[in-house]
Amino acid sequence: MPTTTAPHPLPESSASALSLDRFIACCAANLVEGRSASLLLSKHCGPAPDLQRVTVRPIVLRGELHLSFVYRHDTRDMTKNLPVDAALRTVRDLLGPVFRDAHLHTADEAIQLTISQRGVCTLRSRSITGKAASDRDEFSQMAHGHDREKQRWVDVTRPFLTELGVTTAAHTVVPAMSRKWKQINKFVEVFAGALRASRLLEADPAAPGANRPVRVTDFGAGKGYLTFAVHDHLRQLPGIAPEVTGVELRPDMVRLGNAAVNKLGLVGLRFEEGDVRSQAARPIDVMIALHACDTATDHAIDLGLRGGAAVIVCSPCCHKELRPQLLSPHPLKPILQHGVHLGQQAEMLTDGLRAMLLEASGYDTQVFEFVALEHTQKNKMILAVKRTRPQPAEAVWAQIDDIKAFYGIREQCLENLLRDRLNAVDTQSGHATAAAARDL
Ligand SMILES: C[S@@+](CC[C@H](N)C(=O)[O-])C[C@H]1O[C@@H](n2cnc3c(N)ncnc32)[C@H](O)[C@@H]1O
Repeated sequence: MPTTTAPHPLPESSASALSLDRFIACCAANLVEGRSASLLLSKHCGPAPDLQRVTVRPIVLRGELHLSFVYRHDTRDMTKNLPVDAALRTVRDLLGPVFRDAHLHTADEAIQLTISQRGVCTLRSRSITGKAASDRDEFSQMAHGHDREKQRWVDVTRPFLTELGVTTAAHTVVPAMSRKWKQINKFVEVFAGALRASRLLEADPAAPGANRPVRVTDFGAGKGYLTFAVHDHLRQLPGIAPEVTGVELRPDMVRLGNAAVNKLGLVGLRFEEGDVRSQAARPIDVMIALHACDTATDHAIDLGLRGGAAVIVCSPCCHKELRPQLLSPHPLKPILQHGVHLGQQAEMLTDGLRAMLLEASGYDTQVFEFVALEHTQKNKMILAVKRTRPQPAEAVWAQIDDIKAFYGIREQCLENLLRDRLNAVDTQSGHATAAAARDL
């Protein structure tokens, strides 16, 4: 049998407790969330003298994510596969009483936890690149196959979930909140992928060694389920200092959000009352606007652009602006005579134009299905990640003009906001350019 574990007084100090907690959080974030990762426990100090080390890797069994522990003894290997929650508890139990060294290798980082003989935990991390990283990507793909969607991105025991009523005090999902739970997980998955694509998680060259602030603004935050989830995800990432703000029209929601923040003692998360349509621009790394009504989405995107956001993510809601403007051009007339089709067309055109305007503003943009909320069937997401290299935008602007002319669209809110600023910068130029947009 693998080595049994006994309760241990580790860690002694609160700093050690924090290091251990952060390391376990990193294990959860990397081993469990479908990233490329493996864990090695070494420097054996436990009771089984022939045990050398333990390696831990993600594995999918019967469609469920598990962690596979290989206990290497002098003359044999023992394998034990555990469901995720039990596996993370086992890792925690092994650290200190059985092993004094742990290395977590992710796709781009090596994170090391060392435990001194007096039980002091020290956490270090360094970035890794090159072949070693790509080898681990292949391993992770093999291990996960097509089962990634079954994994959970948020630990069901996180306190904010209970505070917001998503889980019970016993950390089970409240049945009426199961769709919200699914939405939170899906959103964190999208958010985490966008962060990696954006390079926001890389150390700040201007302040090496310091925690890098990541400024997130969530416009129309509502009760803050996703605002809390984003903050919780960021605070578990080593080297990151989250600065998350939920902006919300309703003062009662703002009070509720801030009360929960205070109760949980969270740092780097706050809610403020505000109307996205009249907000002043502020520096932003990630702009979020989920289910903001009609043109509120356009104002939020514009604030993201003006704030220099590296990531813009929105899930638009109700599309009223374009519908009354739409012509039914030949030969679409017989199709668009049906109101339901006209509504669908207005939605597609609004979000399609938003995506193109983001492309023209220097972002790689995707439009895809998200998960529907309980009170709406809207389930589209627009995700834009700022390019590191400029691309000419004239062709995209010309396509936008063609589409507008074809459907008789006179104006679209985001385009108006962009063009107003572009015109303010250069009243002489006929068409906006990506370079001009970036300079705003
Ligand atoms: C459907 S809820 C979505 C909440 C949250 N983003 C989510 O997806 O779970 C939309 C929220 O946006 C807020 N809202 C509507 N218009 C707004 C505006 N102009 N500025 C700021 N918030 C607004 C509403 O009060 C509401 O709480």
